[in-house]
Amino acid sequence: MCNAPPLFVVILAAGKGLRMGSVRPKPAHALGGKPLISHVVDLAQSLNPQKIVIVVPSGPNHWLDCLPSSVETVVQERPLGTGHAASIGVSSLGPMDPHAHVLFLLGDCPLLSPQTLGKMRLCYANATSNNPPAKTCGGQGSLGVILETHPPCPKGYGHLMYNEKGLLCRIVESKGTHFPTTENMPCNAGPFLTNIQEAQLFFSSMSQSPSGEYYLTHIVEWGAQKKRYFSTVQAPWAECVGVNTQKDLAQAEGILQEKWRNTALEKGVSMVDPSTVYFSFDTRIDPDVILHPFVFLGPGVTIDAHSTIYSFCHIEGAHIQSGAQIGPFCRLRQGASVGKKGCIGNFVEIKNATLGPHTKAKHLSYVGDAHVGPHTNIGAGAVICNFDGNYKWQTTIEENVSIGANSSLVAPLVIQKGAAIGAGSVITKNVPPRYLAVERGSQRLFSLSKILKKHPKT
Ligand code: UD1
Ligand code: CA
Repeated sequence: MCNAPPLFVVILAAGKGLRMGSVRPKPAHALGGKPLISHVVDLAQSLNPQKIVIVVPSGPNHWLDCLPSSVETVVQERPLGTGHAASIGVSSLGPMDPHAHVLFLLGDCPLLSPQTLGKMRLCYANATSNNPPAKTCGGQGSLGVILETHPPCPKGYGHLMYNEKGLLCRIVESKGTHFPTTENMPCNAGPFLTNIQEAQLFFSSMSQSPSGEYYLTHIVEWGAQKKRYFSTVQAPWAECVGVNTQKDLAQAEGILQEKWRNTALEKGVSMVDPSTVYFSFDTRIDPDVILHPFVFLGPGVTIDAHSTIYSFCHIEGAHIQSGAQIGPFCRLRQGASVGKKGCIGNFVEIKNATLGPHTKAKHLSYVGDAHVGPHTNIGAGAVICNFDGNYKWQTTIEENVSIGANSSLVAPLVIQKGAAIGAGSVITKNVPPRYLAVERGSQRLFSLSKILKKHPKT
């Protein structure tokens, strides 16, 4: 957009969030593997604004730690409504170009796309430029742009009231009222784009609603009284879900997951039953990966081509290299890396460990804080004892090693190439190359008939 006025973004996130019924602050609730607020901040950043300010409640706000340091915050001491929060956000921006635009985003409206916000900006630019404005964008007197959506269940949303000329003249809040709602009626999705000076003028004259709150949405009626109107841009409902309750959060998660699954399917990922597979915001999967039912991919997962993930695997912070076979029933935790054509089977847990190509751990093992070379086999029930009660220790297992079933490898430890560990051993010392280490009591034999003679069954 050439010669566009500078853009500032104010994110409103200081409400009490009581409807969530949780002690966790609403912005910190997870959606698609990252906090709710991070979705909104990422969206704001995609517009490349001059500044992003978040209006936060007073008290400790640990959820801010996950945000980029460039994002500023301002405290709203008491939750006196979205209009009050917006005015605090704008005051914190300091003196600025009167032509600047400000976009108010709601901290609990996480699914909007950059494209939709781009449409709002274009609409406002058209309406305020000397070019003939787009029909839907109002005339030169446009006070700003809001987003219109059509919720299947509009209760709780602000309803858009148009006059006989089709101009938006009021937003009526339905929260806590008996305002009649009908399915798919036009509603306010949340974001407001306007001129900074106009916003300041509104703030200086806004009055309380009967609930005692100052509503940002009253700016529409305030403008209409001066024959200044907001333009509207349409947005699909799937982008506009506001998260007020746990049910809303679950609904938003469902929408997001479906979008991500469809993207993966379109890219060539196979899913036996997509509705049971869960992705995160940063999941990277190559085409020709096969995902069996009930697979959960937490943050930080990369799966390279031709790998198969069998059912009931919980995977996060892991890299699965090409052609690997994972599961069923396995857990890959932060820092797990499975090499090319590696094989991780049922009831195996891997944490902070890299496994080389063709290395296998097929049954009932724990591999933690380790580096394992290629072509190594970790037998059933083998465990790396990485924690001594106070500290975690590293284990190195080189290439072509065979770790016998049910052995315990007590870290720190180096097992060199070509070595073998006898089944059931507890290994506490390094093993040199091509040596067999066995550490267990020698087998003893007792005649059962003699024992039974001495202690006959009663
Ligand atoms: C709001 C809109 C409604 C719209 C809906 C879309 C108002 C008055 N209503 O209703 O028109 O359809 O969003 O989801 O704006 N907040 C503060 N300080 C406060 C109060 C709220 O920062 O004092 C923040 C909240 O943290 C939240 C956002 O503003 O992120 C919206 O507040 P909320 O109370 O959830 O508004 P809704 O009832 O959803
Ligand atoms: Ca809300």
